[in-house]
Amino acid sequence: MEEPDEAVIDNAVLDLSGEAAEEHATDVASPFFGRKKPAAVLKHALLDKYVVPFASKVGKYAPDGRVVYLDGYAGPGRYEDGTPGSPALIFESAAAIAGFRKLDCYFIEKNRKNYQSLSSLVAEAREQGISAHALQGRVEKHLDHVLEAAEGSPLFAFLDPFGLGITFEALTQRIFGSRRPGGQPTEVLLNFNANAVRRIGGLLTSTKEIPGKPATLKAMDDACGGDWWQQEFLDSANNPEAVDRITDGFAKRVGQAVGAGSWTVDVRNRADLQVAYHLVHFSRHKDGLWLFGEAASLAQVEWRRACIPPASPDMLFNAEDTFEEEEETRRLGWVKTIRANLEALLRTHGSFIVGDHQGEVLAGVLGEAREKHVRAAIKELHKEGKTTCTGVGDVRKLRVTGPR
Ligand SMILES: C[S@@+](CC[C@H](N)C(=O)[O-])C[C@H]1O[C@@H](n2cnc3c(N)ncnc32)[C@H](O)[C@@H]1O
Repeated sequence: MEEPDEAVIDNAVLDLSGEAAEEHATDVASPFFGRKKPAAVLKHALLDKYVVPFASKVGKYAPDGRVVYLDGYAGPGRYEDGTPGSPALIFESAAAIAGFRKLDCYFIEKNRKNYQSLSSLVAEAREQGISAHALQGRVEKHLDHVLEAAEGSPLFAFLDPFGLGITFEALTQRIFGSRRPGGQPTEVLLNFNANAVRRIGGLLTSTKEIPGKPATLKAMDDACGGDWWQQEFLDSANNPEAVDRITDGFAKRVGQAVGAGSWTVDVRNRADLQVAYHLVHFSRHKDGLWLFGEAASLAQVEWRRACIPPASPDMLFNAEDTFEEEEETRRLGWVKTIRANLEALLRTHGSFIVGDHQGEVLAGVLGEAREKHVRAAIKELHKEGKTTCTGVGDVRKLRVTGPR
């Protein structure tokens, strides 16, 4: 997690063709399990857990409680087996908060067939009173229209392409640049595709004559905001290191350009598989980063559950049965880590507010543990007389002070 500059807080094409598309399609529904694969479970759980708290919070100060949601690479809305895609999921979120917030949803989809199913889903949602718009074509074409419609309201943009997405310039200058820091909140969650990094990076060392190579490298330069990623790739010992370095470099550069902090979540189909993509979240506000951390932790629980292999007769133990025990072991480990972090902060500062030190409080368990684990750690320290803080109340606002 990268925290935004204090000043900001105070103001409070390439298509990767068949192969990548196929990888992503199997990411959605697996015929073997008859359900979404874990990578898509994590992606959708993040959206599901984040958009409602985000809109509830930022819509408080927005005219008419209106919050704009943009899904720039929307897909068909639902998959053929009925599994909800990001648009169908967002309609559930919009319905859940309809009594007190208006989530005004814009969906952009390039592919004609996908657009057709998307627009039927949007029509159904509108009949139920949800404000929704389906736009056919490239996100680059419709972006300015959506940004105009979002003027004066908070904006959350979800950008989930198969391969490379919008350019660095479009992200930093068109999306963030069109919105005043200190004005209505702007947040982006984007899929930064590890497959694209591996495959395009591979072109740098390939000795083969590959048609379109310069254009492909240029597309990656445009997505990353320069050719800095090429040296990172060449300096890395292997592909996983290259993917990490380039994703981190991208998040840092975007953050610096727009005055935002960021979260980067690794998305895999199984713990022992390589990263399929990273979901990178940008927010100019500490509250957004805190809330996203909560959502990331909750989404990881769903991901771990989705990774449980189906029971088979020759298995000695059913992994489903031991899941809760394993979760408890994780919980104990996280609380122990957080306790040590809190004690270190107490030694350094004597007294501090939890929400001002999110990264340090959660060091080592970022994206895994959440508020309730911080509270548990504070309560343990209180019981042992190591802090006067009881751990009761809004965790972020708690002041942790050493014993009197
Ligand atoms: C990964 S899928 C989206 C999945 C969807 N977000 C979900 O979670 O259910 C990417 C979609 O973006 C569409 N697409 C590709 N390039 C696009 C572009 N430039 N503008 C808009 N849509 C695009 C593809 O047709 C595809 O349906």
